[in-house]
Amino acid sequence: MVKLSHMKPPSSSSLPVGPTASAVGQEAIARLAAVVASSDFAIIFEEIQGVITAWNPGAEIIFGYTAQEVIGKSSELLLPPERLQEGSFILNKILNGERVRYLETIRVRKDGRHISVSTTASPIFDPNGKVIGVSNIAWDITSQITTQQALVIANQELAFQNEEKAKRAAELVIANQELAFQNEEKAKRAVQLVILNVKLQESLMQTIELARQLVELRDPYTAGHEQHVGDLARAIAEQLGFDMHRQQGLMIAGYLHDIGKIIVPIEILSKPGPISPEEYSLVKNHVQAGYKLLEEVVFPWPIARPVWEHHERLDGSGYPNHLKGDQISIEGRILSVADVVEAISSHRPYRPALGIDRALAEIVRGRGVLYDEAVVDACLKLFRERGYKIANAGA
Ligand SMILES: [Fe+2]
Ligand SMILES: [Fe+2]
Repeated sequence: MVKLSHMKPPSSSSLPVGPTASAVGQEAIARLAAVVASSDFAIIFEEIQGVITAWNPGAEIIFGYTAQEVIGKSSELLLPPERLQEGSFILNKILNGERVRYLETIRVRKDGRHISVSTTASPIFDPNGKVIGVSNIAWDITSQITTQQALVIANQELAFQNEEKAKRAAELVIANQELAFQNEEKAKRAVQLVILNVKLQESLMQTIELARQLVELRDPYTAGHEQHVGDLARAIAEQLGFDMHRQQGLMIAGYLHDIGKIIVPIEILSKPGPISPEEYSLVKNHVQAGYKLLEEVVFPWPIARPVWEHHERLDGSGYPNHLKGDQISIEGRILSVADVVEAISSHRPYRPALGIDRALAEIVRGRGVLYDEAVVDACLKLFRERGYKIANAGA
């Protein structure tokens, strides 16, 4: 039994014995032994019974045993317990004269550490062709396997991450689709609401127009008065810089401001010439009646209050509550100016139309006393600078 770490020729029992051994000569054998001794591979010879008979320095490095420690021992000491059957499998192959090539397997080092090796086991024949031993050439592939395993793990992790990303992307696509659907639904509902709102608005305006016409039917001598006051009030509001919504509210308040006249007897409304104080007091009740009619109606603008206030004057000389200054809402102050200008400029049963100049002269006379200064100024600007005209107004 020989340790193949020396360059001296080994004994015939410790080297492979083949039909060509005697022919190569002692020098060739020595060179061969030197190759074995200097190899990084583990080169191990074992008898057919599994006893190790030769062990090179490469085997010392890979398995941690010196030649003295293993020679004469069973090669099973290199096998992990769970791989003992693998030893029998290799032996059977060898006994059949076959090789086991590049088997990647696990072996145990002297320090107990398991290492991955690639091993090739070849049968050794005697001159008669009988198998008498095994040559094992093995090399450590632990780092290679570890690298491969790390790569496999890294690839698996990458595949997992890609799968997760794909899942998240798919979830995002679904979420986006859901969001798009919700937005579409919202847009549809918004359009429906707009349509509904427009229809409601149309229906409200038709109702207001109906109420206005009902008042005019009872008071045909002031036909168009409500509409003219509403239009002028809206124009004054625009001149004052009110937004569209408030402008519309003032127009509607104007259209309805004399709705309370339905309680005034038609004989009084259409009476030519002056009316008696009793009759005048009946006429004045139209303000309260209008307020009562409108206060329960839900409008998106203040309507009932300015209607109630349209005969109030800044100095408290108006009716029905003799409100003063800021006690009268701005809508009420606008309505009162529009009402006076329209009434004076137009025809009345008891007098002819006095014309726009007389009407404007009246608000100039009462500016800051009876009528709001800013409202009067806005009204004057409309007629004097912007060419505003009341339809069918007297000259
Ligand atoms: Fe009135
Ligand atoms: Fe009026």
